Amino acid sequence: MKILVTGGAGFIGSHVVDQYIAEGHQVVVVDNLSTGRVENLNKGAKFYQVDIRSQEIRVILERERPEVINHHAAQISVPDSVRDPIHDADVNIKGLLNLIECSKGYLKKFIFISSGGAIYGDAEEYPTTEAYQPKPMSPYAITKLCSEYYLNYYKHQFGLNFTVLRYSNIYGPRQIPHGEAGVVAIFMENILQNRPSTIYHFPGEEDGMVRDYCFVKDVAKANLLALQRGDGEILNIGTGRGTRTRELYDMIIEAYESLTGKAALELKNTFRGPAREGDIPKSCLVVRKAEEALEWRPETQLLEGLKKTWEWRLGTESPKNDYEIATM
Ligand SMILES: NC(=O)c1ccc[n+]([C@@H]2O[C@H](COP(=O)([O-])OP(=O)(O)OC[C@H]3O[C@@H](n4cnc5c(N)ncnc54)[C@H](O)[C@@H]3O)[C@@H](O)[C@H]2O)c1
Repeated sequence: MKILVTGGAGFIGSHVVDQYIAEGHQVVVVDNLSTGRVENLNKGAKFYQVDIRSQEIRVILERERPEVINHHAAQISVPDSVRDPIHDADVNIKGLLNLIECSKGYLKKFIFISSGGAIYGDAEEYPTTEAYQPKPMSPYAITKLCSEYYLNYYKHQFGLNFTVLRYSNIYGPRQIPHGEAGVVAIFMENILQNRPSTIYHFPGEEDGMVRDYCFVKDVAKANLLALQRGDGEILNIGTGRGTRTRELYDMIIEAYESLTGKAALELKNTFRGPAREGDIPKSCLVVRKAEEALEWRPETQLLEGLKKTWEWRLGTESPKNDYEIATM
């Protein structure tokens, strides 16, 4: 199958590309490298360094005619969306519409990446199912939810087939220490720099906030299954298990010690800081619907995933750097 992956040089998108190529699919990547990296690119993919909002998208889509678009490219920062909601909407809404409008009529499927963590907000239903009425609390969450509405519109007006994957907090190799959910990458960087980390918390919850951490390779597998299943569905992708920041930090230290054999006792000290604007106390996704629709399960235990992330961070996993750039 020929698949166009937007954001395929980014953290999650590059693992999705790897998974598709490993299964024998033909992959075209579109990425403007605003946060993505060339070293993440799979050499088996054809790469266009292009913005999803640009007119070149029409030319690329007419030339490549993919059967599926997997849309990972986005303005991903919640604080940046608060600072500049116009830019957030420009990338996340105009970019989406450009892709859909330029592929209308022949596309078999559009896989869209949404954010369960963001759109449910401070949900009364915990852990949260897809049936919960979203309460987006940031421009980023609004543009993700709005994109889902657009997909519904195109399905009903033009028969566009789609699957929406609402991610929890994703972690793993290639994550860089910024963005929506970079806490694992931030803590690892602090540990390597011998700096204490800060645990942000709400009053009375000193061990920090609760998040649902899902390993990136499990997420890539969900994207693989979504090629054949989950038509017309909106699906949470996470683990259904909530972990407090303090517990996560301790597990990161444990994984480090078990891999390196070095005691990191002095690193167990952390600072505490008040919750930041826009923080929510807890977020965790029920993934039963994805288990049924995709026959998918998160397979990687948190400690195991943290060890794999450390292996990458400590340089025991070699980076790829050989890729084909397509010319316009
Ligand atoms: N990381 C998480 O925990 C998480 C959680 C929920 C949802 N998501 C979603 O998953 C997707 C991937 O996120 P990520 O964490 O891998 O971030 P990332 O920044 O690593 O990936 C985004 C990619 O999109 C590219 N991009 C950005 N704007 C572009 C544009 N205008 N044109 C072309 N390419 C552009 C970037 O260069 C980058 O390679 C995003 O849609 C994000 O909203 C991520």
